[in-house]
Amino acid sequence: MTNTAETRTVVVTGASSGIGRASAETFARMGWHVIGTGRNPERCEEAVTALRKMAAPGARVDFVRGDFSEMADVRRVASEIAALTDRIHVLVNNAGGVRDGLYRTSEGLEATFAANHLAPFLLTRELLPQLERAAAKSPAGTVRVIAVSSSGHMGCPDMNWDDLMMLENFAPAQAYCQAKLANLLFTRELNRRLAGKGIVAQAMHPGRVSSNFASHGDEAMQSYMSQNECITPEQPARTIVWMATDPEVGRKGGRYFHDLAEAEPAPQACDDAAAERLWKESERILDTVGC
Ligand SMILES: NC(=O)c1ccc[n+]([C@@H]2O[C@H](COP(=O)([O-])OP(=O)(O)OC[C@H]3O[C@@H](n4cnc5c(N)ncnc54)[C@H](OP(=O)(O)O)[C@@H]3O)[C@@H](O)[C@H]2O)c1
Repeated sequence: MTNTAETRTVVVTGASSGIGRASAETFARMGWHVIGTGRNPERCEEAVTALRKMAAPGARVDFVRGDFSEMADVRRVASEIAALTDRIHVLVNNAGGVRDGLYRTSEGLEATFAANHLAPFLLTRELLPQLERAAAKSPAGTVRVIAVSSSGHMGCPDMNWDDLMMLENFAPAQAYCQAKLANLLFTRELNRRLAGKGIVAQAMHPGRVSSNFASHGDEAMQSYMSQNECITPEQPARTIVWMATDPEVGRKGGRYFHDLAEAEPAPQACDDAAAERLWKESERILDTVGC
């Protein structure tokens, strides 16, 4: 399947709910070719039907379902996306969230680290040919990879290098904060590696958002979210779409944004050596599961 010169293609992971869905809706209204991913069959079905209804004339909406805590599934999703388009202009790595405990996947990985960090790492790697093909025909800086991270990364002083999946001493909130720090380190190293190709990688914090997020977490997370005021998913979606399209955002990658503005990440998210080390560790872990 080929795209017309006018159509820009965006992949939004986690488009079956919350922030990803609100972002996918905006891209569809703007006439883009939107490829969403999700996990829950009913939510995916409902989302694709609604997105197609609201899409602008000329827009196209596809959906691919998969469990991003399973790396084999991430690879299958990537190959199904590659069958839908030969060019990707924007990849929004949004899927993820908290869990209420330690879950080992069928591949032996810890589910929070797998879905929030290893999945976007692997998906981006698998979709690089499509991103590079888009970049070859686009002005520099207009092809972008966007990570939906969290200010929660500030609660993680460093990666737990001896046990990245925290299998020895697991705590759901710490595992989540570490995975969100990993999003920022990955963005940093990805941006460095893609600099010569005209592709920029950026990260963002959506804010405290009313979505399905808390329903996957433990009681402490659920009560924290219910006791604090939350914004609607449309608000961070505006920032994501702005990050995908604004000329200034494409000027320089490796940055962190919140609410339509650049923000300051924690110092541990700006550590080039840690970013490179995480890249190598991620490759090593993926190697152990045959990816
Ligand atoms: N909500 C907040 O306050 C908040 C704050 C900071 C950062 N974030 C981040 O924002 C992103 C979006 O979260 P949200 O608030 O929009 O939550 P949400 O409503 O629960 O949406 C999460 C999306 O990711 C998908 N997803 C989650 N785990 C997955 C997995 N293992 N495999 C495949 N898909 C998976 C979900 O799919 P299904 O629904 O189909 O299962 C859904 O489409 C997440 O990365 C989250 O960490 C959220």
